Amino acid sequence: MNEINETKEMNENEIGRTIQQWIAQRHRESSDPVCAYIYDLHGIRQNVRRMLGTMPQGTHLFYAIKANPDRRIIEALLPLVKGFEVASFGELAKVREVSADVPVLFGGPGKKESELAGAIRLNVSYIHVESLLELRKIAMLAKQLDKMVSVLLRINLRTSTLPKTHITMGGRPSPFGLDEELIEEAVSIIREEGESRVDLCGFHFHSLSNNTQAELHAEMVQLYLRKAEQWQQAYGLNVRIVNAGGGFGVTYDGSHGFDWERFTSLLSQSEAVQMLGDKQLWFEPGRYVVADYGYYAAEVVDIKQSHQEWFAVIRGGTHHNRLPASWGHDHPFYVVHTERWPYPFARPELHEAYVTIAGELCTPKDRMHANASVDRLRAGDVVVFVKSGAYCWTISHHDFLGHPHPQFYYVTEGEHDEPTYDAVHVQHS
Ligand SMILES: Cc1ncc(COP(=O)(O)O)c(C=O)c1O
Repeated sequence: MNEINETKEMNENEIGRTIQQWIAQRHRESSDPVCAYIYDLHGIRQNVRRMLGTMPQGTHLFYAIKANPDRRIIEALLPLVKGFEVASFGELAKVREVSADVPVLFGGPGKKESELAGAIRLNVSYIHVESLLELRKIAMLAKQLDKMVSVLLRINLRTSTLPKTHITMGGRPSPFGLDEELIEEAVSIIREEGESRVDLCGFHFHSLSNNTQAELHAEMVQLYLRKAEQWQQAYGLNVRIVNAGGGFGVTYDGSHGFDWERFTSLLSQSEAVQMLGDKQLWFEPGRYVVADYGYYAAEVVDIKQSHQEWFAVIRGGTHHNRLPASWGHDHPFYVVHTERWPYPFARPELHEAYVTIAGELCTPKDRMHANASVDRLRAGDVVVFVKSGAYCWTISHHDFLGHPHPQFYYVTEGEHDEPTYDAVHVQHS
């Protein structure tokens, strides 16, 4: 990433100016170095409105909260999405704290009996079935609790035609979902052991994450629809829902991310979507909804040279934002220059240099960006990592070495929910 252009661009746009003002305010209020996540709830809502705007009839959007389960984000999305996808009882409880009745899809491998029972009691709307054993447990619990349980079978297709991405769960051996060959057995378990309390509503697929190719994604979704149609015929089912998962990609290297408008336009033109009839096609993205609307701001505590290379050590690091360590990438950032320097000695400073942004942990793996080109960077400046809204805080090892957690701030739409940046204010949680 070209840090120099980014810095100028970010500090000149509205969210960038808001962050700049907030840093200045934090410096006035506290002598501690800045370390915080800022979530742009206004941006997230605008993004989802844009996504909904081009979705074909019969398609619906859920948010996979694993990307970022922050309560304020769930609250912000509640009026816009059809529901939420959760992958544990803990995530389900988070959604239920915000809404007692919003539709919730409960997926994920290795569901425990207590989780399944708890989910049924908390009125989970649909369970994504990951194995035959899990299905048998669901049938047993439905009888014991005398409840109707709606399920979607998660299928791992045997095909080599799926898009190739960094993270794949389907189209290859994996612990996720059922092989196509097991559908017949699943249907007989439901018929024989479910005793009319298990309703097979359709199929669920989530084969990959972070796909940036809209055309291939549209083809994959059409394949799902064709397969569901075939299984409906073959096993005499009443398929009402096909959940095509998430996996819409975001890039961290400045290249083009997923083209949602192209994807939805291809779907709208496709026969499979035009023939949906009473069936519903669902999506449950996480990353694409929130990634671009999170900012991780961390102050430079030290600048030093080692073996001819420059390092900037920040108050924070991969224990707060593990994505760059997890994916082995350089996380994009820009610099906010600050004036605070309360010391009687010189302020370390770099000009037109290459610098590695490292964290405060005692491990060489704690690096956010290697050899970044910076125009100017001083101790006391704040490095703002963009695209930190998804799989950043939530996947991190927060308590390693016992440093304080970051603070969390939210950019909202203002009191009247106006979609205008004039009304933006930053609220402390
Ligand atoms: C079952 C399921 N659905 C949805 C998602 C969200 O995926 P993404 O954030 O790539 O859209 C995931 C992510 O792993 C998942 O496992």
